[in-house]
Amino acid sequence: MDRDDQAIVRERSQVSLCTTVAEGDQPFIPYKGDANYHILRNGRPILDLTSQYGVAPFGNYSRAHRNMYDLLQEFGRGKYAASVDPDPGHRLEVLLKQRLLEFLPEGYEFILFELSGATANNVALTIAEHISPKRNQWGSFERAFHGRHQPAKDLTASNTGHKAPGYRPSLSTVYFPYPSSSKDIIRLLEFINANEERTFSIENLSAFMMEFIQGEGGMYVPRESVMHNFVEALQEKGVLVIADECQTFIRTGRRCAFEHYDVKPDMITISKIFSWCGFPMGAVIVRKGLIKEGTLPLGWHSGSQLGQPLPCLAGLVMLETAIKENLVEHAQKIGSLFIEKLQSALKDNPLVKEIRGKGLMIGIDIVNLEGKPDAGLLGSVVDACLEKGVYVGTAGNKKHETVVRLLPPLMITAHEIDFAVKQIQDAFDLFFEAYR
Ligand SMILES: Cc1ncc(COP(=O)(O)O)c(C=O)c1O
Repeated sequence: MDRDDQAIVRERSQVSLCTTVAEGDQPFIPYKGDANYHILRNGRPILDLTSQYGVAPFGNYSRAHRNMYDLLQEFGRGKYAASVDPDPGHRLEVLLKQRLLEFLPEGYEFILFELSGATANNVALTIAEHISPKRNQWGSFERAFHGRHQPAKDLTASNTGHKAPGYRPSLSTVYFPYPSSSKDIIRLLEFINANEERTFSIENLSAFMMEFIQGEGGMYVPRESVMHNFVEALQEKGVLVIADECQTFIRTGRRCAFEHYDVKPDMITISKIFSWCGFPMGAVIVRKGLIKEGTLPLGWHSGSQLGQPLPCLAGLVMLETAIKENLVEHAQKIGSLFIEKLQSALKDNPLVKEIRGKGLMIGIDIVNLEGKPDAGLLGSVVDACLEKGVYVGTAGNKKHETVVRLLPPLMITAHEIDFAVKQIQDAFDLFFEAYR
């Protein structure tokens, strides 16, 4: 780190309240972006395998950005300004909703825009309250991440640091075991049977929010039939199933991750992919027929910032790019290749417990020489990868799992994947030699 970068780190820590759990031990200060790379002040390119935790799905500066900036110029000349159209459901917002409904799996009819993933999740929970006012419990999975704003935060269970010691949830919340291994499936069944009379009853659950593939909690992929049966069982009992696709949308090689499980959730939330050009937005999407006339009273939800024209414009470019560039199929194909190559390159490294994932959502589960998760080790591995020119993220609650999280830009190329695998392998090998 040169002197200027050190000054940035110092200034940032003087004024920032927010901390992130993303990095290794070394602060990472990119200077500018170029395609799927961050460029350091000294000109060194670093391949970005985090997409800034999913909000830079088209890399750091791509042809999608150039299209967006052309449109912004038109915007600057007044072409899309909200003020020219007094209708609150202005043109860009309606257009984006129409396009999204065309793109999504069939069977969804309404969309509401919000400001982020957490607030989109909150609105989905509010809808559930209106639909089943007599039920007063929420469900989510152990290790789930649904955001840091209440009530979505009630359902977040990935890290105890998210909640203050005196934290009071707004509704009673039940965390179910996540069915990623046969052991977990048995736990899930035992949990459901043993809990029916005690801490919850399924009939009392208003909604169950789930990441079909867990991100922040450790990049877990559940068993297909179990997840399918679990969702159907919930819906049969009148529990509304909310698919939190904030991290997974497009990335797992399907439009929505729930499509891997052949189910139809009642609501879907998406967010990160909208934010790709710096105009954050979230969305709640509602299944056809879920909201009957009179369910939602006038004024049940609104916000003066919702569906603003710039984020809608960015959303339209995002969708157009995803469709034109075939990004769902690309994520599926190139993601499988990435996972296979990583599995082969790291198979003999004792620090690697498992490599798992779907599409371009991949986790490298690491352990120390005693086979235990080790947060210090995770930070050092992130730094070792950075030394080798690839920027990787982290996941897992650091106590029970320490996971390198890979969320590469959706347009990553086969050549970049070869480079990434080689550099990650070298970083792991070198680090292991020094560590053993
Ligand atoms: C699955 C999931 N849900 C919700 C959120 C929260 O989104 P936001 O940070 O936009 O509030 C995230 C963010 O990481 C996420 O990964």
